[in-house]
Amino acid sequence: MSKEIKINPELNKNEKYAELIQQILNLVQGEKNIIANMSNISAALKENFNWLWVGFYLVDKATNELVLGPFQGPVACTRIAYGKGVCGTSWKEKKSLLVPDVHKFPGHIACSSLSVSEIVIPVLNSKNEVIAILDIDSQHFNTLDETDVKNLETFAEIVANMFEG
Ligand code: SME
Repeated sequence: MSKEIKINPELNKNEKYAELIQQILNLVQGEKNIIANMSNISAALKENFNWLWVGFYLVDKATNELVLGPFQGPVACTRIAYGKGVCGTSWKEKKSLLVPDVHKFPGHIACSSLSVSEIVIPVLNSKNEVIAILDIDSQHFNTLDETDVKNLETFAEIVANMFEG
């Protein structure tokens, strides 16, 4: 069975997300492996929005760090400490962060010099604990906005539900 994800390029951003969310739900339902599903979610987002980097960091309770998970894009930092960078801050504050210009975010961790704007969304479990982080990096200014944040939070919920089994 074809697993291709196809989004009509004529649609506006919100409509594209609506189609993508539906197709992702179809793709991940029936597959219990979280790594496989996170990998396909990263690929689907990267392919359809042409961002520089899309992927997940997973909370490593043993070291109190984020550790690199499934992603698409250039090689990235393997570990990020609690409260550090955009990802560590989103983990600490348990909230989504829209960073229109990474150069203006104190402590931003530059995995790629090409990344200029970023969105980070925490994946929260039913106990309101952060279990992972969804990170999007763009090589363009002024393309990421609240529409992305709102829709990417839906992706984070899909991932959270996968963790709940
Ligand atoms: N910029 C992130 C680090 C992760 S990479 O962008 C993939 C941060 O400041 O946390």
